[in-house]
Parts: sequence; structure tokens; C-alpha cells
Amino acid sequence: TPPSQIRNFCIIAHIDHGKSTLADRMLQITGVVSDRDMRAQYLDRMDIERERGITIKSQAVRMPWSADGDTFALNMIDTPGHVDFTYEVSRSLAACEGAILLVDAAQGIEAQTLANLYLALENDLHIIPVLNKIDLPAADPDRFAKELADLIGGKPEDVLRVSGKTGVGVEELLDRIVQDIPAPVGDADAPARAMIFDSVYDAYRGVVTYVRMVDGSLSPRERIQMMSTHANHELLEIGVSSPEPIPSKGLGVGEVGYLITGVKDVRQSKVGDTVTSSRGGATEALAGYTDPKPMVFSGIYPIDGSDYAELREALDKLKLSDASLQYEPETSVALGFGFRCGFLGLLHLEIITERLSREFGLDLITTAPSVIYEVTTDTGETVTVTNPSEYPDGRVASVAEPMVKTAILLPKDYVGTVMELCQSRRGSLLGMEYFSEERVELRYRMPLGEIVFDFFDHLKSKTQGYASLDYEPDGQQEADLVKVDVLLQGDKVDAFSAIVHRDKAYAYGTLMTERLRKLIPRQNFEVPIQAAIGARIIARETIRALRKDVLAKCYGGDISRKRKLLEKQKEGKKRMKMVGRVEVPQEAFIAALSGD
Ligand code: GTP
Repeated sequence: TPPSQIRNFCIIAHIDHGKSTLADRMLQITGVVSDRDMRAQYLDRMDIERERGITIKSQAVRMPWSADGDTFALNMIDTPGHVDFTYEVSRSLAACEGAILLVDAAQGIEAQTLANLYLALENDLHIIPVLNKIDLPAADPDRFAKELADLIGGKPEDVLRVSGKTGVGVEELLDRIVQDIPAPVGDADAPARAMIFDSVYDAYRGVVTYVRMVDGSLSPRERIQMMSTHANHELLEIGVSSPEPIPSKGLGVGEVGYLITGVKDVRQSKVGDTVTSSRGGATEALAGYTDPKPMVFSGIYPIDGSDYAELREALDKLKLSDASLQYEPETSVALGFGFRCGFLGLLHLEIITERLSREFGLDLITTAPSVIYEVTTDTGETVTVTNPSEYPDGRVASVAEPMVKTAILLPKDYVGTVMELCQSRRGSLLGMEYFSEERVELRYRMPLGEIVFDFFDHLKSKTQGYASLDYEPDGQQEADLVKVDVLLQGDKVDAFSAIVHRDKAYAYGTLMTERLRKLIPRQNFEVPIQAAIGARIIARETIRALRKDVLAKCYGGDISRKRKLLEKQKEGKKRMKMVGRVEVPQEAFIAALSGD
């Protein structure tokens, strides 16, 4: 297809504003999926995506559309909607010339609408504003058309109104894509340069790499090179998705398609990298490639220690399809053998743990999420700490923590409550803006460590679910942080150590010691539970001694009942962990960590 007849676009929207439903309707109206094959949310392939209604992996679909007597190839590139995947979103956007800014006509603009809009504008995309769900009785398109027009600069009349559900307005939208979005521009005679915007592991075909051709062309059987690593591969198959893969004779300027080289691990085909020809290839890679770094770390342990090998296998498998997942073995006194895992953010953590339990049937316990701290010791040494157990024991000169810029969108009635919440999380106000009479954007600079610690839950509950949040990294800042340890009879329980702000150390210490007192059964001796900063004790609880005699209740009567009780006690013993002399049921650790 000549570039003049290609249109590359994506849909940007807040979660639940109907992106997948609209995409499905487009596939149906352009005829690439027959009505019979149409099943809800064709593009969301993973079960977990469908159940949670979120799109994790982006994909591209080519749709034919006739306008002005010509047939155009519309390439729709699906973008993940969540903050944790900003880098992937930005690469998907970079593969397009235009974006549909989709907003729920009953909800209006939300935090992720804005975050993605800014990314689209940074990539110079042409924006088509669209209100969705106009079939809803609660829809208020006049009000939100004005809001949208004010936001991107334009007239409310130019905001399209559609319903992904009924299909109203979708044909008009397809026409607008052809009319308004610029055709791709590139040098057909230059050496090949294709940008990878997605890389998906397929159990049968190995890694399927989605690319946007920028210059030149690629053909089947050619040898290609990944410019970041200089690794060469043979191009076994090249084609377009429509939406099933259709092999083609090659891809030219502006086209969007997939490559298969037989590599088995998405790390060999990284999002953002440039693909070129091995012979006579390009010398300069396309701009914008970076290796996304994990921001949030957590220990993952099997509840049943014998599942350790299975957990390792499951992580190895997930890594094939998720280049940003990191992990290494770790041992904990309290939890046994497990893995220290790095994630892009909290949702990423949640997705991985959910997939581990759902797809691999593993029962897991995850430790409280931690961020990356730079700790400088008195001797001037700097240590990177992603786990409280790595915190240097000696004197600490300073600690720097990662900061984020957050944007919170909320109804104006909740502004006071949310400001209080942000302040209690050590946020500093950067700005406040009214989007309409009703809706306000609050911008705060906050430590990431405060956000990963149930901030989102608090935000939602304090605003009856009306607030939405988005954040981006914003450097580091020194803070008065300390490590709080929890000790049982003088022995440290590693899984409960935490790095917290000095002002919150006492609260954390009392919380954990109180929880543990309730969870740990009495022993034959007195057990002090303490919280400490270094050698200084900041909180203490005591479990009083008890002479445990399970048979006392049996009045010497029923012998079979006695035996049962003894059996039961033995069972219980098996799941006990020893911390020094203290027997602690595994469940107590789990309950204390999950906060129930
Ligand atoms: P993410 O993938 O999580 O970003 O969600 P999404 O934006 O893809 O939303 P999705 O298409 O899953 O739609 C969210 C909900 O809105 C679903 O329950 C849809 O049935 C509903 N919905 C989507 N479009 C329309 C519409 O035009 N009208 C009505 N009434 N409901 C819609």
C-alpha cells in the first residue's frame, strides 16, 4: 500500500471509557471480523485482561476502509491504558500519526485521558476528540464536548459523538480518520528502519514482534538486526494482522505489521528498539529507545515451601512474555525461599501475582512493596537498597528516595479531603486547576514510597471512587528515612522490616507489634515483641507465657478424641516457623503482612 493510502492511529482513553468496545465495532464495520466471529472484546486475548477489563498488551490491526473512491488501510494500534506502562504507551503512540481521544460522555475527562493526551501531543499526533457511550441515559455530550474542546483547543461542534455499543457515529469516525490524520512520511530508498512498538510471546510461534516501518522496507527471509544489541536474526515470516496474522511479501514505508524470527524471549526483541537489515542496514537508530526500569520491588514466596521450584518455572515462563519483569532468588527467615521481584508499578505487581496464582495455581505471599533507595553511609559509600534487609547496618549519612509527580482528577467537593491525604503522605502541592465548575486537577510531588503503600485505596475510598490518579517519575529527594525492625524475643523477623519516614516509624512499630501479639499463640515462656530503629526500641508488646495442655479439655475420657487432638497439634507444628526459640505459625506471618 502506498503511504498516501495508509492511516496509522491509536485510541487513547481512561480505563472503562470504552476503548475495546469501540475497537470491536470498528473491526465489525470494516468487515475484518465477521458478525459471526465477533465476540466481545476481540482484541483482549488474555483471560485476565477480559475479566478485569483492562488492556495489558498492545496489538495492531489493519482494516480496509473506502473513502473518496480509494481504499485506505487503517492501522489501529492498541495502547495499554495504565500508568505503569507509560513507556509502552509512548512507543505505540510514536508508531502513529493520529489519535482518537475517547471520552465517556457520562464521565468526562479523567486522569489517564490527560496523561495519554500529553504523551500524544509530545509525539505530534493529530487528535480527533470523540465522546463515547452517547446511548447512555446519563450521557451529557453537550457539557463534555465543551470540556474536550476547551482542553485541546477547538470547537465543541467538532467533537464527534459515538456509541461503541450500538455503532452510532462509528462510520463517520472512520471517515474522519481518513480525512484528518496525516499519511505517514518516510524515505522508501533509505536503509530499512522499523520501530518495535510491541513484542508478544506466543507459545507456538515464539516471539511475535510488532513494528512500524519508518524508512525502507523489509522482506521475508532477509537477515535483520536489532540495533540496540546488534543481534542478527533471520526473518522467518513478515505480515500484517487483520486481526489474524496474514503473511505478506514485505512491509514498506508507513506500514504496520509483525515479524517472526524464531526468538523465544521478548528480551531479544525489545519495545522501542529499531530493526534494520543486517546487510546495508541503517547506521542511526530511531530516537526514543530506553530500557524500562522497575520502580517497585516485592518478595514473592510460595505459602507451601515445596512449591518453590514451580514458582521459579512460572516466573521463567512469564519472563518470556514480559521484558520488564525482574526477579532473583531470596531467602527470608520468616517466609523461607522465594524471589525478590521488580515491577514497573503496583498494577504490574498485581497482574504478575494474579497470573502466578491463576495460570499456575500457586498460593503466594507477597511482602510489602518497596521502592529504590540510595543510602549513603558515614564512610561515603552509596548503596542501592530495594529490600529493607540490604539497608546498611552502620551509621547512615543520608537517604534519597524516588519522587513522582502525580495528577489527581476529582470532583471539587473532595478537594479538602484529598489535600489532607496528600499532605499526610508528604506531598507538596504543585498546582490546582479547574477543568469545569465541577472538576479539579490537583498536582502534587510525592515520594513514590508513599504511593505504593495503599495510597490508591485511600484515595478511592475518600472520594467514593470518583478520583483518578496518574503519576510519572520525577527524580530523587533526600528524606529523613529510617529502617524499622521487628524482633521476636530479640531476633529480627526480616519480612517485617520496613524503610519509613522517621515521623511514621513509631506508628509502624506499634501497628506491627500489636498485630503480631494478636496473631502469635502463647508459648511456654514469655515472648517480647519489639520494634526498633537500630538498637533503639520504639515499641513493645508481650505475649505472656502459657503452659499449653491440649489434653486438659478431654477429661481423660474419649481416647479417639484425644488422638485426634494430638494429630491436629502435630499438623499445626509442621507449619510452624522457628524464629529463635519462638514458634510462629506461617499463617501469622501471612496475616500480619496482608494487614487483615
Ligand atoms: P480498558 O481496556 O480497561 O481501558 O477499558 P475500555 O476502555 O476498553 O472499556 P471497555 O470497552 O471494556 O468498556 C467498558 C465498559 O463500558 C463495558 O462494560 C462496556 O460494555 C461499556 N461500554 C463501552 N462502550 C459503550 C457504549 O457505547 N455504550 C454503553 N452504554 N456502554 C459502553
